[in-house]
Amino acid sequence: MSASIIDGKAIAAKRREQIATEAKAFTEKTGVKPHLAAILVGDDPASAVYVRNKQRACEQANIQSTLHRLTAETTQSQLLDLIAECNAAADVHGILVQLPLPSHIEEKAVLDAVIATKDVDAFHPENVGLIVQNRPRFLPCTPAGVQILLEESGTETAGKHAVVLGRSEIVGKPMAILLMQRGPLANATVTVCHSRTENLAEITRTADILIAAIGKPKFVTQDMVKPGATVIDVGTNRVDGKLVGDVDFEPIKEIATAITPVPGGVGPMTIAMLLRNTLTAAQLATA
Ligand code: GUN
Repeated sequence: MSASIIDGKAIAAKRREQIATEAKAFTEKTGVKPHLAAILVGDDPASAVYVRNKQRACEQANIQSTLHRLTAETTQSQLLDLIAECNAAADVHGILVQLPLPSHIEEKAVLDAVIATKDVDAFHPENVGLIVQNRPRFLPCTPAGVQILLEESGTETAGKHAVVLGRSEIVGKPMAILLMQRGPLANATVTVCHSRTENLAEITRTADILIAAIGKPKFVTQDMVKPGATVIDVGTNRVDGKLVGDVDFEPIKEIATAITPVPGGVGPMTIAMLLRNTLTAAQLATA
């Protein structure tokens, strides 16, 4: 039987509506409008599209957004100055520095400079530490979005074997942590696989939940998937200008129970979670 396709776009739209309602109520009560400052450095066309989508999503969710567009020649020190301004601005609640940054800029130094209380990407070490200790201030956007997709697809996580392919700071690492936590949409037994893992297919074939975040187009083939598994594809690879996931979708959908498409799976959820974090940041700043 063919898998059910997890409609991330529809699920994210529902969440965004909910956030829009909450943001409106928050503004009516406090007179404060949640405000996200997005910083885009350089002219990577894909990043420009992502940032535009985030801005549009903010508007629809009753969240103000300001885009700071800087040229590719911007120095690290100029970027740090702008972040310091946003950190100090009382009417800015969330700050997002779109990645990747140009190669002459040290990413860690820039991300560390965003004040933790406005770090709606949850990249700051303080926020990562809070997540690891299961007392999050902000949720890591993509992993938290994946948890919601698992919930909405009726995938049980408690006691199940979740295999995370990839160990990035943005997805793989926080994904594994969320799934292994004590709590709802969690309590899984988690294995993290990566480029140095031996007998990879042997391990992925034991996954009840397989999450691919390895950044290689169609890396996960049908023989790597256990029949009946839920397969979540976090990949956003550009191949000949087309967006391609990490999962070989067509053959795998024939054996999986549920699977996310690319595009229209995880991507829209990341944006919904960013909106949630921005509202949370405004609420924390106003409490
Ligand atoms: N580039 C790719 N994914 C992300 C993300 O989640 N946040 C930011 N800021 N940049 C990204």
